[in-house]
This record gives sequence, C-alpha cells and structure tokens, in this order.
Amino acid sequence: MCGIFGCLGGQNLITQTLQGLRLLEYRGYDSAGIVYRTSAHKLRVIKALGDIDCLTNQIKTRPDTQLCLGHTRWATNGGVTLKNAHPQVSFNKQIAVVHNGIIENYATCRTQLMEKQINLKTDVDTEVIPNILYLLKHNKHNIHNFLHGQYVFAATDITAAPGFFVAKRGTLPLHIGKAADTIYLSSDLLAFPPTVQSLITLNDGDTGEITTNAIKFYHLGKPITKNWQPFTAFSEQTDKNGFNTYMAKEIHEIPTVIERLVTDYQQDNDLLLRQREFHHLLSKANCVHLCACGTSYHAALILAHLIEKHLHQRAIAHVSSEFTDDSLIDEQNLAIVISQSGETADTLTCISTLQAHHVPIVALCNVTSSSIAQQSQLCFPLLCGPEIAVASTKVFCAALLVGCLLINRFDPADFTALSALARTTLRDARQLIKLPATRPQKIFFIGKQIDYFLALESALKVKEVTYTHCEGYPANELKHGPLSLVDSHSLAVVYQGNHTDNAVAEIAARGGQVINLPPLTPDNPLSFIVRIIPAQIMALDMAEQLGINPDKPRNLAKSVTVL
Ligand code: AGP
Repeated sequence: MCGIFGCLGGQNLITQTLQGLRLLEYRGYDSAGIVYRTSAHKLRVIKALGDIDCLTNQIKTRPDTQLCLGHTRWATNGGVTLKNAHPQVSFNKQIAVVHNGIIENYATCRTQLMEKQINLKTDVDTEVIPNILYLLKHNKHNIHNFLHGQYVFAATDITAAPGFFVAKRGTLPLHIGKAADTIYLSSDLLAFPPTVQSLITLNDGDTGEITTNAIKFYHLGKPITKNWQPFTAFSEQTDKNGFNTYMAKEIHEIPTVIERLVTDYQQDNDLLLRQREFHHLLSKANCVHLCACGTSYHAALILAHLIEKHLHQRAIAHVSSEFTDDSLIDEQNLAIVISQSGETADTLTCISTLQAHHVPIVALCNVTSSSIAQQSQLCFPLLCGPEIAVASTKVFCAALLVGCLLINRFDPADFTALSALARTTLRDARQLIKLPATRPQKIFFIGKQIDYFLALESALKVKEVTYTHCEGYPANELKHGPLSLVDSHSLAVVYQGNHTDNAVAEIAARGGQVINLPPLTPDNPLSFIVRIIPAQIMALDMAEQLGINPDKPRNLAKSVTVL
C-alpha cells in the first residue's frame, strides 16, 4: 500500500504533487505528506493526518520549487500519527524519504544507527532509510546490501543537485515518467498527467539517481542502461464523469465494460490466440486451482463452480492467504489467479508457491503492467480501465465474464445480450432492492450455489462501505446456527431461486424483514454476471445516506501489497 508521487523541474510542483497524490489516494489515506526544496536551500516537510484534503488544508502557500515529493500512507507498522507519516527525514534534516513496503531488518538497522549516535524519533521502519543513505554518502547504490524486505522508496538530499534517489526490492511498483520539462515519479501509472510521454519502470534490485540533467540507473550496485518507453496517460479515465463518487461511476461502466470484453475477446487476434493456449493448458490439467482475495475470491468461487459444472474438471477456489504448499499441488495442475490490482501480496505469495511446483499460471487481471500479470504464463486482461473506488464492482463482473468466455460452453448470443441486461438492471436496481426506511442493524444476503457466492460478494460490498454487520449465507444453512441472530432489526436480501422459500419463511417467522431478489431473466444463463448490480447500488446508496465516502472506506486501501 501507500502511494509515492514526485516531480522535478517545471512549474507548480506542489500543486502537481497534490494532484498526483489525490489519484494515488486509493492506496491509503491514513496520513499524507510532502517535502519540497525552499529558496533558502532547506527541505520543507508538511504532513497531515487523514486524506489529501487534510494535507491540502495544511499547505498555506505554494512557492516555486525545483522539486516536490509526496506520500499517502496506509499504516502497517507504527500508528497513524504525524510523527510516523512520511516523508521521514535524516537526523540532520538533510535527506527526506517516502517509502512503501517493509524494512524487515529495521530493528538491527536502528541499533546500528544508535551505535553511531543517530537516534531515531518515530515508530516506523522508514526512518532508518534517510539515515543509512546519509552514512552511505557516495555508495548509495549499495543500499540493498543494508536493507532487507520488500520495499520501494524515493529520497531527496538538500546537499546534492535537485533530484531523487530511488530504490526498489521486490515487486512494489515505482514508475518514472518524462514530460517536456518535468520528470515525475509515481506508484501507479494512472497518476501521471497527460503531458507524460515516456516511461521507465524500476525493477527488483534497481536503484537510480534522477536529476534534471541526467538519469543513472544501477542494478544491485552495478551501472545499467534503462531506456525510455513510449507512454500514453490515463487522465480521461480517472475523471468522475459527473458522478459523485468513483464507485457510482464504476458501477455504471459495467455495460460498457461488458461490450468491450465481448467484442475484444471474440475478435482480437492476440486474445483469440491466448484463449487457444488456455484451452490447451486446461485440457492437460487434472485439477484447476483458483487463487484470489476478497471480491476476486468470490469470482473464483463462481468460476470454480462453473468449471466443474460445464467442463467436469476438478476445480478448487482458494483464498490466496490460505493456499499453502500442503494444498496438494503438482505440475499436472493449472492455476488461475484473479486480481484487479495485480499487486495483492497474498496472491503473489501463492504465485511463488505455484511456481515452485511448476504449475502453469493463468491470470485474470485488470492491471496488465502489474506484478501478477507479469509473473503469469498467460494473462487475460479485464479491460475495465482504472478501478479507483476501494470497493471493487466493475472488475468483479469483468472477471466473471472473462472466466465464462474461457470456459467456452455458452451461446455467443447470451454474451451479446448481457450489456443490455446490465443496463436494465442498473435502471431497475433501486426497485429490485428497496432500502428500508430504518437502517437495519444486521443484514443477511442469502442464496444457493452461484447465488450464495453472489450473496458473499453482496455482503462484502455492504460491509466495506457502510460499516454495517452483514453476512452472506447459503439459504439452507440459516437453521444450522445464524438464525439465532435474526430478529426484528434484521434484513435479509434473498437471491430468490429453487429452495430459498424455506429460508424466507424462517426469517419472516422471527420478525426479520425480507427482500426477495428474483432472477433477472430465466433465458440467459449468464445473467448472474450482472445480478450483483442491485446489491452494489444498495451498498452505494446506504453509504451515501450514512455520509460515508464509499470510495475510501475506513481502514482499507485499494491494493493490498502487504501480507
Ligand atoms: C473489494 O471490494 C475489496 N476492496 C477487496 O476485497 C479486493 O477485492 C481484494 O483486496 C483483492 O484485490 P485484488 O483483486 O486487487 O487482488
């Protein structure tokens, strides 16, 4: 988690840094900070608790500067305090650092620094970095010999020419973008402004020194050459397009995403070739392991069910963090990993385990430049454009759709009809699930088979953005325990289907309120892909009624890059 954004050269660098950080805010918003060079040759650090609005309010003036570097934090170690927010500075305030990831040997580094009379003031591992850089002086490119863990950071030193020192170990992203008169750093390509036309991405083990005049790169201490790649910015796709929230915008993009996926997967030669390769891998596999977290895991549950039902092949969905070496894996298996961000640490760990067992890995991933996409043998893009709201919506539908295209047992006409069905479902969503006048204390989503998995996903959406206790249950399981929770303060949304009537009767008999969500259409076996929309809208509306910003629910962040 956490977002790094910086700029060097050009105009309005403080404003530009704040704009970049705002686009990275999905990565964490516990606290934020910037550092810039003042005309008096000092580093000026400004930090705030809370999101980028809070930081912006702290910045009373925006003087011209040659360089500005910022950070938005999702706390891992060290509480959410101003002292722990980034940038962190060296003991003599000469070097400032923003950092993402974890320095595992932080305690040892701290002790070694104390032996040199350098006492640290915060609870965060980041603070060791500017101090070690200070001690290394001209040997900074050996920094990886001193730090252990997965990390990426950017530093600036007031005694050197205006510029950044960057370093990366592991998979956390950091990109360098070049525009006519400015060089940018960003944790995510989507934060680059439209003026950025070329790009360099740091790799594991790289370090770099970036000034307005020269850029030098090293890999594990040895000089290397890295070339600029052409780049087109995503700026238009990061606009809210008239919606109040990204979550609302992204739910309303579902019909367009479906159209794009159906057309591209049926017509694009490269995607057709990849599908052929997938079928070859699948035909050889004796078991399919699907690994993912959160919403992507719910998509995995549905796809595992469909693979068994339509292809009669054994398929097991795993929560990535529960997947271990003991999961009976071998090279005869096939793995499908699903991820929106492509940077989820739990899923990346699964990939390492699968690779160690020589299992072919196929990714369904929205960010094709991500670590998960790159570490997979075959990647199927989800073609959603940036998904910025923390609650995943359009990508859930996209993962299901791509999974169904790959299963290859459905009528093409049913795929074509799906975007129209998504549009009518969006139109009717608030009729399908009418919010009760009083806020229920607990909510249950109930369903059977695929609808049970939709119930799990619905409950996750409501939980994430409304802070209401909410569970998904298989319809027939209620009587095995959870029914004891049902009372007149409960609401059950039932994915109506065969054998859900008993559950409805059991809830109603205990005074619980029931909303029946009928099947959207009996004619299209793919309609489950868009049947999640009313629950997504329900979660969104509840959040707005409660005054919660659904794009940034408390305690969460969009890409979970820590274990
Ligand atoms: C979804 O609404 C959640 N924010 C979360 O569960 C998410 O799906 C999970 O962290 C997995 O992320 P990924 O798809 O980027 O791997």
